[in-house]
Formats: sequence, C-alpha cells, structure tokens
Amino acid sequence: MSMPSLYKVTLIDTANERHVIHFKRFEYPNLMELIIDNTYDDIGDCKGRAMCKTCLVEPINPKEVTGINFINIPEDTDYVLACQIIVDKHINNCSFKILDRD
Ligand code: FES
Repeated sequence: MSMPSLYKVTLIDTANERHVIHFKRFEYPNLMELIIDNTYDDIGDCKGRAMCKTCLVEPINPKEVTGINFINIPEDTDYVLACQIIVDKHINNCSFKILDRD
C-alpha cells in the first residue's frame, strides 16, 4: 500500500516566525483551518464564510497564486482570504504571510 503523498506549505506568522507545515490533500477544509491548527494566530472569526477578513494572507510569491484553487475566486490576489483557499497540491511549496489583524 502506498503512503498518501504529503504536501508542504510555509507560513510566516504574525510574530514573523516561519512554520513549514506538511499536509495531506484535503486534510483541512481550507487554508484558514490549517493555519489555526498549526500556529498561535487568532483568525477565522466568521468560520470561513468570507465575512470577517481576519484570515487575510499575503502570498509571498504572487506568481504562485495563479495555480491555486479557490472556493470563491478573489478579485484581488495581492492579499487573499485563507478560508477561500483549497488545501491541495496546488498550494504545495507555496508561502503565505499571515497578516496582523490590527
Ligand atoms: S474566516 Fe472570516 S473571512 Fe476567512
């Protein structure tokens, strides 16, 4: 039996600490849930309904955004809502900076 493949995403948290997180395809419903599970950052007030904007992240390499699968496609990709990002191979090796909510 083959092992499920692991993907990797890098998060820079609001304390500027770098976290390299390994995940399985669809292990989380979206990137916001992955962030909550793996950092101390307090985000996700609206539980992923794209209303609170506490889950805004900045893709470190804007070119990577083109391949990402979104739940709702954003108008602007300089900053994107993590709760709208699907956790699959398309974010493998991507890096995101979590924005401070203040
Ligand atoms: S969790 Fe509220 S906008 Fe993403």
